[in-house]
Amino acid sequence: MASELLRRARAFEAEQRLPDDGRPVFHLTPPVGWMNDPNGFCVYRGEYHLFFQYHPYSTDWGPMHWGHAKTRDFLRWEYLPAVLAPDKDYDKDGCFSGGAIELPDGRHLLIYTGVSVHDGRMTQTQCVAIGDGIDYEKLDENPVLRTEDIPEGGSVRDFRDPKLWRDEDGQYYIVAGNRAADDSGQIPLYRSGDALHWEYVGVVDACRNEYGKMWECPDFFPLDGKQVLMVSPMEMPPIGLEFHPGYATLCLIGSYQRETNDFRREYAQATDYGLDFYASQTLLIPDGRRIMVAWMQNWATARVKPDRWRRFGSMTVPRELRVRDGRLIQNPVREIEQLRGAKTEYRDELISGETVLPGVSGRVLDMTIQIRPADSAGYRYFQVNLAQDKRYVTSVRYLPDENKIRFDRSRCGFPYDIVHSREFLTRERGGKLKLRVLMDRDSVELFVNDGEQAASFLLYTPQEADGIRFVSEGRVRMDVEKYDLS
Ligand code: FRU
Repeated sequence: MASELLRRARAFEAEQRLPDDGRPVFHLTPPVGWMNDPNGFCVYRGEYHLFFQYHPYSTDWGPMHWGHAKTRDFLRWEYLPAVLAPDKDYDKDGCFSGGAIELPDGRHLLIYTGVSVHDGRMTQTQCVAIGDGIDYEKLDENPVLRTEDIPEGGSVRDFRDPKLWRDEDGQYYIVAGNRAADDSGQIPLYRSGDALHWEYVGVVDACRNEYGKMWECPDFFPLDGKQVLMVSPMEMPPIGLEFHPGYATLCLIGSYQRETNDFRREYAQATDYGLDFYASQTLLIPDGRRIMVAWMQNWATARVKPDRWRRFGSMTVPRELRVRDGRLIQNPVREIEQLRGAKTEYRDELISGETVLPGVSGRVLDMTIQIRPADSAGYRYFQVNLAQDKRYVTSVRYLPDENKIRFDRSRCGFPYDIVHSREFLTRERGGKLKLRVLMDRDSVELFVNDGEQAASFLLYTPQEADGIRFVSEGRVRMDVEKYDLS
């Protein structure tokens, strides 16, 4: 039986759901109100389900519910009624992020963080709800992981975001984020035979104050012969151009022995190099692909938003992950090709100064640009301007001498002085660059050199500004292939 709070949320989203025109075409946004982290990304009865941190009543973060959507292709989403409301004593201050899995008997299990404040003291515990893909009942036994289950010295206030999977040994596992005695993140691992009764295994890895403080939303999975630990660190210090300060993303790639719970890091990188990416979650699907989705936002900037908006927050495009040469590779799910419509193509165009190419414009598109120096003299930069008209422009500049990409949305139309630009390094390629640009009305996602790097950004530009221009200092040859998406 749905509680009063959940019934209220369901009635509200049914009545107040915003029309689809005006929404991004293939990115998931909330029916109405606020969305943050992806939760419970899973396959259930042959469909992909995605839940999300949700506050339907306003465009601000508030008492956390779980919203719900499903898809067959990761791009066209169907909304389902909200599934969790903060209606129990142990989660009265929020149903925070978590995971989901289909049980062998066909039931659907959600595990989430129950937040409660009693006498001014906050605790976070892990709780379970079981259902049929629409309605879920919270277990009487909740919480299934309590403050006693936290590793010694760990904080009871910061124990959240369980990520659940079933391993090849038939056991269920979760990793969670916790704050260790040294005030920075650690990732405890738990094991269970039934996903209800959990035992502590050990800590998979710890921050030791190196990559920020608290680590949120961990994920831990094998990929292409390596083991990957992804986390979203809070209070990250800037480290070169790899990690920007604040709410960051960290992808640790290494090796793992499950028997001894021994994870060894070999490489650390950002998961995404853009301004708007946090709290990623992955899913292994039956055809063997590992798909990642994240909140296309950042806490530092999510507090400022255009007036009169009635919906805020969206997910990134789901991405296929690989590990190549010990590095993370990510590209949009291949299903995106099904959305491709009209194609515009140019080969071997000489770009010198500013160029507009007939047919190359738009705000919902999949465009791949390849450039190479036309001659060695004077090639200082290549730039593509997006969402441009007389008033607005967002630019992506490539600086071959520094192997650097510089993104700038300060003229995208957002009248607040939040962070608007970002720089990151590419791997050296003698001035050549392959850049895939995915745009969906309010966003730009870049995939550099076949997915070696991805960078996600939101735009706040009126849709009428749909111009694209190519600019260079020095002469480059360019191929461009653009598809409109619908
Ligand atoms: C990450 C996060 C999680 C938490 C959720 C609350 O963005 O802070 O740690 O579970 O958001 O909405």
